[in-house]
Amino acid sequence: DASDTEKGTYPHFMLKEIDEQPIVMRKIIQEYQDDNGQLKLDQDIRTAMKDADRIYIIAAGTSYHAGLVGKEFIEKLANIPVEVHVASEFSYNMPLLSEKPLFVFISQSGETADSRAVLVKIKELGHPALTLTNVPGSTLSREANYTMHLHAGPEIAVASTKAYTAQIAVLAILAVDTARVKGLELDFDPLQELAIVANAMEVLTDQKEELEQLARDYFGTTRNAFFIGRSTDYHVAQEAALKLKEISYIQAEGFAGGELKHGTIALIEEGTPVIALTTQENVNYSIRGNVQEVVARGANAMVVSMKGLEQDEDAFVIPHVHELLTPLASVIPMQLLAYYAALHRDCDVDKPRNLAKSVTVE
Ligand code: G6P
Repeated sequence: DASDTEKGTYPHFMLKEIDEQPIVMRKIIQEYQDDNGQLKLDQDIRTAMKDADRIYIIAAGTSYHAGLVGKEFIEKLANIPVEVHVASEFSYNMPLLSEKPLFVFISQSGETADSRAVLVKIKELGHPALTLTNVPGSTLSREANYTMHLHAGPEIAVASTKAYTAQIAVLAILAVDTARVKGLELDFDPLQELAIVANAMEVLTDQKEELEQLARDYFGTTRNAFFIGRSTDYHVAQEAALKLKEISYIQAEGFAGGELKHGTIALIEEGTPVIALTTQENVNYSIRGNVQEVVARGANAMVVSMKGLEQDEDAFVIPHVHELLTPLASVIPMQLLAYYAALHRDCDVDKPRNLAKSVTVE
């Protein structure tokens, strides 16, 4: 049960929370659906989204990475421009705001001080705010005009896993609902597609042995690692790198495939792990070109692709899901790779050094 705060038979909360992701997807499908199988959202959230001429997503850490994916949903499906901002940076160079901005705060805990500082500021300016959080009743939830619940159940491990996928799922629902309220035609049913994702997640969480072996092969002794992706996969590459560095202390960075040649490729040495994600048809060819470039310089490359785009030499293939929702599937092997890397390096998986589950200081 996703609401359990005990580890049960699991060695770590992180592993338990990774495994709970299919359940969380199904819970979200259930919670955001009415008796007729239609999307169910508060009417005032609908109105706020419909009235907004631009959305400003504010978040930190993993929630920021979910925001990057959310921007794609809202722009592509609901046709509203979106900016995504790191909470701690927002106030220094405040963007010029549109006439009818809506602020969307994404926060697992609802307590992140940097995000709260932005909320206080934009409220002073008189702008509306919607918070997506796993803790209704949290500060960011109470102080915003509207709240959407992530329904992920308590997340105990410091490294966020199921909250990230819950945030993305809820953002997809929000985007589609807004599109429908605006009368836009879509051939994308989020509830049906999320059900497919839940099944894919189950397949992926059953592949622990393979991923443990890959973690040994690629992250056993390395000092650093690079994750690359283009388009949607780039967002997941950033989250994958954050996951790995948080818990295994391996210096890891996520890069846009095309940006590699502008600097980062200088760091590739014999044996440097480079993990390339490819789940989008339109970038499959170019990211594989980047893989060839790093392999030519000695990298230990691992390609993680999606069914339908795979090649024989790929190290890991995720089941096919809708191209908008691929982060929900591709992040699972990334989470598990980070978990096993940390485990084999004898790191404290659930309580990494220097990190807090929620950061309540600015
Ligand atoms: C801390 C946690 C991260 C989290 C970030 C934002 O740094 O260690 O895992 O992503 O805060 O937290 P929030 O609760 O606002 O999503």
